[in-house]
Amino acid sequence: MSQRDRAQRRRSPRDAEYVARDRSSRPGAPQEHTPSADEGKAWIEAPSRQGVSGIALVPLRIFLGVTFLYAGLDKLVDPAFLRDAGPGSIGAQMAAFVHTSPLAPLVIVFGQPFPIAVGAGIALLEIAVGIGTLTGLLFRACAAAGAALAILFWLTASWAIKPYYYGPDLPFAIGWITLALAGTGGMFTVHAWLPWSGSAATPHEQRQRRLAAARGRPMPDADDGVTRRAVLEAGLIGATALVLASLGAVVGPIVRGRDASAVGSSSGTSGGLSGASAAPVTTADAGTAVTTPAPTSSAVAPAGPTGQTAGTPIGSLTHLRPDRPIGFTDPTTGDPSAVLLLPNGKVVAYDLTCTHAGCTVEYDPSSGLLICPCHGATFDPTHGARAIAGPTDQPLAALSVHVDRTTGQISLTSS
Ligand code: FES
Repeated sequence: MSQRDRAQRRRSPRDAEYVARDRSSRPGAPQEHTPSADEGKAWIEAPSRQGVSGIALVPLRIFLGVTFLYAGLDKLVDPAFLRDAGPGSIGAQMAAFVHTSPLAPLVIVFGQPFPIAVGAGIALLEIAVGIGTLTGLLFRACAAAGAALAILFWLTASWAIKPYYYGPDLPFAIGWITLALAGTGGMFTVHAWLPWSGSAATPHEQRQRRLAAARGRPMPDADDGVTRRAVLEAGLIGATALVLASLGAVVGPIVRGRDASAVGSSSGTSGGLSGASAAPVTTADAGTAVTTPAPTSSAVAPAGPTGQTAGTPIGSLTHLRPDRPIGFTDPTTGDPSAVLLLPNGKVVAYDLTCTHAGCTVEYDPSSGLLICPCHGATFDPTHGARAIAGPTDQPLAALSVHVDRTTGQISLTSS
């Protein structure tokens, strides 16, 4: 650096401005560009424009973060999900993926042998991704993990949905990829509250640097600090996810106690099918619920007065109304099932296990259809429960019933 340059650097900005004006006013001197008022304003506003892009992504960030947090907790508290078989269970879903997913070989090798571990792992990862997205901790890594999960869901649970844009997981994946590319824009993160946030270095790194300075050794590599901060943030996210998951696992069954027992009786997966009570009970979702009589014994009923009926009693014609099916557990499969009175007076029964991925379909009184709450498969009970909408073209399994017109008893028969 020349002496002249050094002198100019010592001058105040105002001095430098005078020098610049003086130089440009000399004849033949190259004219320096003086920013216009608008250009200056644009330059001044540049940082806030970056901020605006961060704000623009906040709704997407909140939606994806809250949704994944909720989805992870919901999986842990759902009494039907973390099971290796049964309607709505991760085991049943994997069994369906084997027939529908392009990842079937991976599902067979890595998923089916450990369904509960895989289900719990996915739930924990969803919770961690939700926490990272909402807090801004390891934001891009969490968004990338969210994208990977959404793509996994798309290739398994949503793969059979046609056309593809009816499936929810692909748009989720695109949203996550957008967040992973954009980052937080510095908006709404908890970094300012972290113990190591006031410095570019973690407390451990600061100690290392003080020690290195005192001993006259070279400073530790700055990348070390970045790695440590990433590890600390990952630890914080992981610990919070575990605490939330434990809380969910403990509090969930208490909060959903009634629902859990109802699902247990209707799904037939909990083994809690004994202990019948005489009064019918109603499954979880009011309005679309199927009335479930107390679980019946699988013992074959004695022949009726006419001597024609031999089967498992599942309800009475006097309780069956066109808008109110009676639910029961199929003693052969343990699946939730329902008997319905059709508008033409015919009595039919179906296994309520969705032929897409094993969720339990529900009766919609307003339409008279059976609708799956998971991905919207819709079945028409008046036409053999054929699929009329959604990601499956397979009808629900029909069950054979006999109605004793003398006593009104409806029985499940073997054929
Ligand atoms: Fe997917 Fe029923 S499980 S539509």
